Amino acid sequence: MMRIDPVERHLFLEGVFMRYGYDFRQYAEASLDRRLSTLLTQFKVSSLLELLKKVLDSSDTFRDVLPYLTINTTEFFRDPLFFRTLREVVFPVLKTYSRIVIWVAGCSTGEEVLSLAIALKEENLLDRTTIHATDINPKVLKKAKEGIYELSLISSFNKNYVTAGGTNSPSEYYTAEYGLARFNSKFLENTVFSEHNLVTDAPFIEANLILCRNVLIYFNRELQDRAFNLFARSLVFKGYLGIGSKETLRFSNTANYFDTIDSNQNIYNLKVQPVGKSAASLRKPT
Ligand SMILES: C[S@@+](CC[C@H](N)C(=O)[O-])C[C@H]1O[C@@H](n2cnc3c(N)ncnc32)[C@H](O)[C@@H]1O
Repeated sequence: MMRIDPVERHLFLEGVFMRYGYDFRQYAEASLDRRLSTLLTQFKVSSLLELLKKVLDSSDTFRDVLPYLTINTTEFFRDPLFFRTLREVVFPVLKTYSRIVIWVAGCSTGEEVLSLAIALKEENLLDRTTIHATDINPKVLKKAKEGIYELSLISSFNKNYVTAGGTNSPSEYYTAEYGLARFNSKFLENTVFSEHNLVTDAPFIEANLILCRNVLIYFNRELQDRAFNLFARSLVFKGYLGIGSKETLRFSNTANYFDTIDSNQNIYNLKVQPVGKSAASLRKPT
C-alpha cells in the first residue's frame, strides 16, 4: 500500500467536496487511506494532488473515482442471521400494521433490498410495504433497479437463503438465462430507488424500519452520530433500526433514543423522538 500524505488527503477530499458536493472528509482514515492508495495505482498517478487535478478537470474522471471511495461490496442475504432475526422479532410487529415503510440506506447494487423483499413476500407483507432504497453512488442504484445479476453472484443467495429463514426453493425467485439471473420484477414493484447521502442530506421519510448495514463502519464517530441522529428523526415512534452485527449504537450520543431489541444483530427500537422532529424537516432525496 502506498503511504498517503495527510495534507494531500485533506486537500483531495476538500477539492472533491467543493467541486462535487460529495463529503468524505470524516470517513474513517485507515480504510479511506487503503482506498486512496488503490486509486493512485489504478489511475497511475504518483500523488493525490496529481489525481485531484484530473478530478477537478473532468467530471467523467470523478465518476470513475467515486466507486473506489464508496466500497460497494454486498451479497444476497448477507449475514443471514440478521434476516432470520428480522423475521422472528420485527416482522411479527410489522404484521400488525396496515401500511409499512422501510428505508434501506446504503443499498449498493440491490442484493440486500431483493433479499428483504423476498423475506417480506414469504411473510405476506410485501404488498403493504413501500421500500425506499438509497445510496450515495448513482452507478450502483442503476444496477439495483435492473434486478439482474451474474449467475455467479447467486451462489451466495443459495448459500444464505435457508439460514436466513427462507421457506421456499431459492431458484423460484429468478430465471437463469445466458449466465444471468433475472429476478421477478414484482419484488421491486414497491421499491423506490434514489440518491441520498447520509453525510449531507436531511431526513426525507418516516419509516417503520430502517436498515443500514456495512456502511457506518466507514464513518468516523462524529459522522456515525450524525447518521444515527438522521435515523432517529426518520423513524416513527417505536420504529426499528437494524445496523447488523459489525456496528453498534452503544457509544453514540444518540444511544438513549433507542432500546436494544437484539444485541447480536444490533436491532433497536426508537423509544424517544428527538426534539425538533417535524414534518417540516422532511425533504425528498435528490
Ligand atoms: C459495503 S456497501 C453495503 C451494502 C449493503 N448495505 C450490505 O450490507 O451489503 C456500502 C454502501 O454504502 C454506500 N455509502 C457510502 N457512503 C455513503 C453515504 N455517505 N451515504 C449513503 N450511502 C453511502 C456505498 O456507496 C455502498 O453502496
